[in-house]
Amino acid sequence: MKSSLEETLLSAIRTIPDYPRPGILFRDITTLLGNARAFRRAVDELVHPYAGAKIDKIAGIEARGFILGGAVAHQLSSGFVPIRKKGKLPHETVRVAYSLEYGLDEMEMHVDAVAAGEKVILVDDLIATGGTAEGAVRLLRQMGAQVVAACFVIDLPDLGGRARLEAMGVEVRTLIA
Ligand code: PRP
Ligand code: ADE
Repeated sequence: MKSSLEETLLSAIRTIPDYPRPGILFRDITTLLGNARAFRRAVDELVHPYAGAKIDKIAGIEARGFILGGAVAHQLSSGFVPIRKKGKLPHETVRVAYSLEYGLDEMEMHVDAVAAGEKVILVDDLIATGGTAEGAVRLLRQMGAQVVAACFVIDLPDLGGRARLEAMGVEVRTLIA
């Protein structure tokens, strides 16, 4: 019998207690990425609503958003934009500070990574507080991109990230909670 998407994904994700800080339950997707069926199903499900839509770019957030976002970009025949932790991109960048479930950081995007009016979908593995995704949306909008949606495999609903992005007018899609 074919198992449901939710079962397939939930059973492929590993939980590590107290990583990277005490009290954090870390949802580790490396086991999902290493499971060919689960990886394919996750990417297919992320892509599905946008099949046939003209999406100019997929923006992926370092590091786990690169893996999923790259696969989604390939499937949708879209370009890919890396949003990176500060100091990693070689050309002129825009930068934003953000907070996440277990820290503070800054991220950057190349100034010419998106053109005004381009349709962009943001992809990451997981949304918790939404601080990371909010920072990424700010960078994309600063350069004039139209953020069509933000898509994640995992939602941690107790941490409020979805509501935070929706309050910015961003459509949010998640596969499992
Ligand atoms: C994780 C995850 C998201 C972010 C979500 O990345 O991949 O990008 O945290 O947290 P938030 O919703 O509270 O902002 P992390 O910063 O751990 O980076 P990594 O992918 O390089 O491990
Ligand atoms: N990013 C923020 N919170 C996280 C968690 N609990 N597991 C994995 N990545 C995360």
